[in-house]
Amino acid sequence: MNVQNTEKHTADATSVEEGLAIAQAQDEKFTSEFATETAMQNTLLTPRFYTTDFDELDAIDVSSVREDWDKLIDQMESDPNKGHFKKNEDWDHVDWDGMEPELKKEFIDFLISSCTAEFSGCVLYKEMKRRGANKDITQLFQLMARDEARHAGFINDALREAGLRVNLGFLTQKKKYTYFRPKFIYYATYLSEKIGYARYITIFRHLQAHPEHRFHPIFKWFEEWCNDEFSHGEAFALLMKTDPKLTSGINVYWIKFFLTAVYATMYVRDHQRPAFHKALGVDPDWYAHEVFTKTSKLSEQIFPITLDIDHPRWQRGLERLQKANVDMAEAKGLKKIGAQIRAATAFVSLYTIPAKKHVVPASTRLEPAY
Ligand SMILES: [Fe+2]
Ligand SMILES: [Fe+2]
Repeated sequence: MNVQNTEKHTADATSVEEGLAIAQAQDEKFTSEFATETAMQNTLLTPRFYTTDFDELDAIDVSSVREDWDKLIDQMESDPNKGHFKKNEDWDHVDWDGMEPELKKEFIDFLISSCTAEFSGCVLYKEMKRRGANKDITQLFQLMARDEARHAGFINDALREAGLRVNLGFLTQKKKYTYFRPKFIYYATYLSEKIGYARYITIFRHLQAHPEHRFHPIFKWFEEWCNDEFSHGEAFALLMKTDPKLTSGINVYWIKFFLTAVYATMYVRDHQRPAFHKALGVDPDWYAHEVFTKTSKLSEQIFPITLDIDHPRWQRGLERLQKANVDMAEAKGLKKIGAQIRAATAFVSLYTIPAKKHVVPASTRLEPAY
């Protein structure tokens, strides 16, 4: 391998293959067991890797949304964020040794979990691109995988300063893959892209107003970052638009299930990081409500329902679920079973809150506006 090649950065890679080759070269030079083992964990709250029926996905015909589709693909092809996801002069020095230990622990957990989630998108999208024959589909998944490889690579840069690195090549080979039917992939991935956008933009705007809380430079990159996720979400909205069955009839119950599960998971996971949110100057309950509000507004573009997050049972249910989850982690034996039952009951209580219905617009396309 020549020197130039090893010096290339994932941020400059124009394809996922190139990005992964750069990442792999770095894996070989430096690895961290702690970070990789953390990323390997599969619990209800940690990011998973997915696989699906790629032939069914490959068979999607996008002609019914052709105009919007071509515009979106052109925009992604123009690649406004090429070269963006790497350290530059805006990257302030991080005093890892001086960081308060609780904050350091939670922030590292946040980075590892975010890196794994980004990379989970990367492996799924790359696999679709590799297996497909449909030009529209493979082109889209190549572009999305390219972006996610950059995002994961950039988080690894940040981890590297703390002496850590998630070994992406090892994860690809060894992490367990969960099978989801294509329609569940659409609901889950669409939501994770849109909630990712809402999370990043909410933190970015908050830190714009309160720069004294920006305890790490990576948050400066969140604006362009969330625009990538926004486009990915748009792509999944268009994919779902090609088949009205996906967002009607019995599938509305599945949509409600995924909305509830994604929101509840975010709530419980964020509440495990009090020091992180305190350092950001963000109340996790306020943050959750803000992110749910934005995500719900966005998802009206394709889903015929939104969750009633102002219903009196909503906040109470989330808090019960969160407490049950803490007890589940700590308790043993009968107490643990008790906590599991409480968690399940809390989830059912959230799921059974009547949803809000609305008429879905004829065209799905949205621009990032928050
Ligand atoms: Fe991403
Ligand atoms: Fe994404």
